[in-house]
Amino acid sequence: MRVLVTGGAGFIGANFVLRTLAERPDVDLTVLDKFTYAANASTLDPVASDIRVVRGDIADASIVDPLVADADLVVNFAAESHNDRSLADPSSFVQTNLVGTYTLLESVRRHDVRLHHISTDEVYGDLDLDDPARFTETTAYNPSSPYSSTKAGSDLLVRAWVRSFDVAATLSNCSNNYGPYQHVEKLIPRQITNVLSGIRPKVYGDGANVRDWIHVHDHNDAVWTVIDRGQLGETYLIGADGEVDNLTVVTSILELMGREADAFDFVTDRPGHDRRYAIDATRLRTELGWTPRFTDFRSGLADTIDWYTAHRDWWEPVKAGVEAVYAATQQTL
Ligand code: NAD
Ligand code: DAU
Repeated sequence: MRVLVTGGAGFIGANFVLRTLAERPDVDLTVLDKFTYAANASTLDPVASDIRVVRGDIADASIVDPLVADADLVVNFAAESHNDRSLADPSSFVQTNLVGTYTLLESVRRHDVRLHHISTDEVYGDLDLDDPARFTETTAYNPSSPYSSTKAGSDLLVRAWVRSFDVAATLSNCSNNYGPYQHVEKLIPRQITNVLSGIRPKVYGDGANVRDWIHVHDHNDAVWTVIDRGQLGETYLIGADGEVDNLTVVTSILELMGREADAFDFVTDRPGHDRRYAIDATRLRTELGWTPRFTDFRSGLADTIDWYTAHRDWWEPVKAGVEAVYAATQQTL
């Protein structure tokens, strides 16, 4: 099978590429990535001779079209992915998440190629902390940020192309991922690398916000499950029952790294900050038989701390720049 992985040099896409190479020798992989600030070219270096890597934009039809024509399946991980950046400047989010997805859709339509579109639970907006509800495949879309609204728009484009043009597509909406190769702008790697750099971890607002954590390997196993056994035209939610509030995440990191649990700062809250996400993945579990394997969050966190400790060369070159941007907008409370 020839698979085109868009965004394959980013966090989840690169983990998808590395695990697919290890576990599916019958798959021939091409990565299309714009190599924005979010990509790290060194992640794919060890497998460079096993895959084809193309530097380019998913919104550029002249690059996308011949690659799609040569593929049996496109898995679209390419996106602008960070909420804080989308609040500072939404333009690249509109361009990549909306125009880029549109460009891919027109190309898979032209060449009759299957698409799996990767999306997020943030399209559903947020839940109150004490609400017993969780998101399901029928929850109404209600995104809050420029990031999540452009992801919601991209999902709606995929659904419309399925309905109007019979494009062969599936969608999955996953909760917060953690694991190796995640950019240090995101909560967990930011705080681990803060501790490793002698900087106090930073918690937005009151720290009570809840995210539903899933290990990136469980996400990617679920993506393959949907590709292998999902019904065309359908959406599957991916989550591993991993609800944890941000304060617990940060104090756990501090404890696991041998620091005092209160050695962090509260900083300015994110505007429009979603309170809680929670996924009900019953459909994926019962209809497609998927189960997560990395369900002990504290042990997954410990492994992730070990990974960042052992791979300083991977993250140190960008760390100071990320912290400088945050320092310009966030004050200690
Ligand atoms: P990331 O920011 O780490 O990686 C995104 C990749 O896309 C980068 O390699 C970047 O260079 C590439 N890219 C950006 N714009 C591009 C363009 N125009 N053309 C080609 N490549 C482009 O993101 P991630 O965390 O790996 O997320 C991947 C996907 O999964 C996104 O669609 C995101 O919305 C979704 N998602 C992420 C999470 C999470 O917790 N990180 C959870 C659910 C869903
Ligand atoms: O839910 C899935 C989404 O998860 C994905 O669609 C996004 O691509 C991904 O970035 C992630 O979005 P979040 O906004 O939830 O992730 P982030 O790591 O930015 O923040 C997680 C939580 O931690 C959130 O409540 C904000 C808070 N936070 C974040 C940072 C960077 C802090 O308290 N301190 C921080 O320094």
